[in-house]
Amino acid sequence: MQPTSDSVTDLFTEAPGSPVLDLARLGKPLDFARLFGRPGPVAIEVGIGSGYFLSRYALDHPELNLLGIDQAPSEVRRSADKCTRLGATNARVLCCDAIYFLYDYPAAASVDEYHVYYSDPWHKRRHQKRRLWRPEFLDVVARTLRPGGRLFLKTDVTDYFTVIDGLLKGHDAFRLVDDRRLDSKPLEGDYETNFQRKAILQGHPLHYQQWERVGKDQGVRG
Ligand SMILES: C[S@@+](CC[C@H](N)C(=O)[O-])C[C@H]1O[C@@H](n2cnc3c(N)ncnc32)[C@H](O)[C@@H]1O
Repeated sequence: MQPTSDSVTDLFTEAPGSPVLDLARLGKPLDFARLFGRPGPVAIEVGIGSGYFLSRYALDHPELNLLGIDQAPSEVRRSADKCTRLGATNARVLCCDAIYFLYDYPAAASVDEYHVYYSDPWHKRRHQKRRLWRPEFLDVVARTLRPGGRLFLKTDVTDYFTVIDGLLKGHDAFRLVDDRRLDSKPLEGDYETNFQRKAILQGHPLHYQQWERVGKDQGVRG
């Protein structure tokens, strides 16, 4: 079968220097310093979409080693192109299911920041099992985020926000640091992702939270 332009196969025939990573070639536990060619704090964005936040955040924080994950090959390609075009050399992109990857690859407490913006809400009840924000996702974030590390999230869907807020408040690995509506109380230096811009045009509420990883490592296996 010929790979389509939207296939995962295409992503791995990149030129040297491409920010696209091949999951099949990553070792466990993942050596971030080796992957980025230097030591440094690690930030992960889950659900990068077209890479707006990933590329700008990488440029604004050259000290960070930034990994963006998306399960859609087309979005990974767009993000990779954007990072290359803008010269965001401290960003890498990976095409896979984030929970699968985070369960197994990064070592416990090896990540400094998580960013998760405008996750698909899957409004229909029968589709809600596809939501990213579910107990398994919190467990893999808790396992990999170092104590004192931060989790940043945004959503424009109030029902989904209530669910996310309840899950995080019910998990003893996280402490709420900031909780605001960006539409009434903007954040200085905020990055408007594609979905944030659409939400603003549609007059949706913009929920934002920042959580801190507290306590000792959780869910460390092995
Ligand atoms: C609604 S879009 C938001 C994109 C971007 N964060 C923004 O604000 O513009 C959500 C993205 O998350 C990705 N995604 C959803 N579930 C995922 C998962 N389990 N693992 C990796 N990516 C996921 C989707 O493919 C999609 O690109």
